[in-house]
Amino acid sequence: MAGTLMSATVTAAATASDEYKATTKLRGLARASVNPTDLSDIYRSDTNIAVWQRQLPCPVQQEVAALLAGSAPCEVSLTTSPERLRAALGIALPGAQIDALVDDIAELVEMYTCLFEWDCVGLRLTALTRAMCPRFHVDHVPCRIVTTYQGQATQWLKHQVVNRERLGRGSEGKPDDVSGLYAAASAIEQLAAGDVALLKGERWLGNEGAGLVHRSPALEDGERRLLLTLDMA
Ligand SMILES: [Fe+2]
Repeated sequence: MAGTLMSATVTAAATASDEYKATTKLRGLARASVNPTDLSDIYRSDTNIAVWQRQLPCPVQQEVAALLAGSAPCEVSLTTSPERLRAALGIALPGAQIDALVDDIAELVEMYTCLFEWDCVGLRLTALTRAMCPRFHVDHVPCRIVTTYQGQATQWLKHQVVNRERLGRGSEGKPDDVSGLYAAASAIEQLAAGDVALLKGERWLGNEGAGLVHRSPALEDGERRLLLTLDMA
């Protein structure tokens, strides 16, 4: 009996150990869900991107289209808390009719600060006239929220398909599509406008060497793009 118990215990221990090894080998997985609470999957050690797939409400789409069609520049960069957000955006974009957009941004700021228990965030809301970071790269931050309200959204690569030796200087100046960073264009994943993505960076403890590789796609002729990013302040 004792032998059976010992054997069962050893087997269970071995199984747990194997599972642990298998789990720790897994890195850089992608999680996507239509449920915003699943953004908390970013806390999984095997995950480097969590996406809330959503359809933007029509009022938000309309306000963004009007904002981008206007002549006023939209390049907001500020540090704020959920409590100060509305006033801060009102000062940064005076006269803009963007109540629904501000509501949406306020919701994301609230989610982001709750998720990580931070008091303040660094917010950037930018109407892009050219791609902000057109080359594939990793961010040297813990975790960033990225959402594109209009236009082509962020492109990214699964951890498993990336040859990280070809990032940055390793590309030897060659474009992404010939540097050997990835095998084929079919490896490139892309978010949709409206998606909310948490991109885990290189400074997330334990994620060194597995930061999400991503880029801002080149703007097409006539494209107007509005990008929001939130960072730890
Ligand atoms: Fe980036």
